[in-house]
Amino acid sequence: MQARQLIGRKKIIIAIDGPAASGKSTTARKVAGLMGYTYIDTGAMYRSVTLKVIESGMLDEVRRSPEKVEGLVKGISIAFEGDRVLLDGRDVSGEIRDNRVAREVSFISSLKPVRDALLVMQQELGRGRGVVMDGRDIGTVVFPDAELKIFLVADARERAKRRHLELQAKSPEGFGVPDLETLEAEIVERDRVDALREHAPLKKHPDAKEIDTSRLNIEEQVAMVHDFAVQMEEGGR
Ligand code: CDP
Repeated sequence: MQARQLIGRKKIIIAIDGPAASGKSTTARKVAGLMGYTYIDTGAMYRSVTLKVIESGMLDEVRRSPEKVEGLVKGISIAFEGDRVLLDGRDVSGEIRDNRVAREVSFISSLKPVRDALLVMQQELGRGRGVVMDGRDIGTVVFPDAELKIFLVADARERAKRRHLELQAKSPEGFGVPDLETLEAEIVERDRVDALREHAPLKKHPDAKEIDTSRLNIEEQVAMVHDFAVQMEEGGR
């Protein structure tokens, strides 16, 4: 006890993976706040690359010849400033949440040059530990040595409802907000592509603690992950 107090708390890596809209980013952000850790939203990084491809007008070309994406990711800059995401120095925090990005992101994320580039950036961001990182492959590929690995799941309908509320809150007139059934189908399709892709598919690491959030509220799921994190920081199992 005494020794532990003298040594102080060791900083760990918390990897949170799971399917679309399972509550990863809200949970990860809150747990990071409670722990005094940095939160890294890797989905925002894949969304930023996707936005760049869309804006370059090369989406169709990349679909035909996927290797063309390499030129677009070369030298790309993605930075986090508080809650803001900067793509090549421009604040894209709002745009990357648009449904036009959501529809293409699984395709862009399946491309090897994209994954290779972001893997290097993500490992660098977590180098000093003391981070909560969320995504699809954090516990399996980016930080397989993360001290705490969490896999969040929830019913597809429940996840669609949450995403629907989120999109409605951003666009009260409902412009561009798909109906619940369409949204659920899009989410299920994105999970399918994410889980079946060749490189770094969505998969639970055998050591990950699975939490089904279908019937949990945010406070409850945050408390569960936070409890695990405190135990790990203290060297518990
Ligand atoms: O917030 P939501 O769960 O809808 O998605 P996200 O975390 O923003 O991730 C968007 C997409 O990026 C996913 O559907 C994956 O295709 C891709 N992604 C990935 O391939 N690997 C990661 N580590 C994170 C996201």
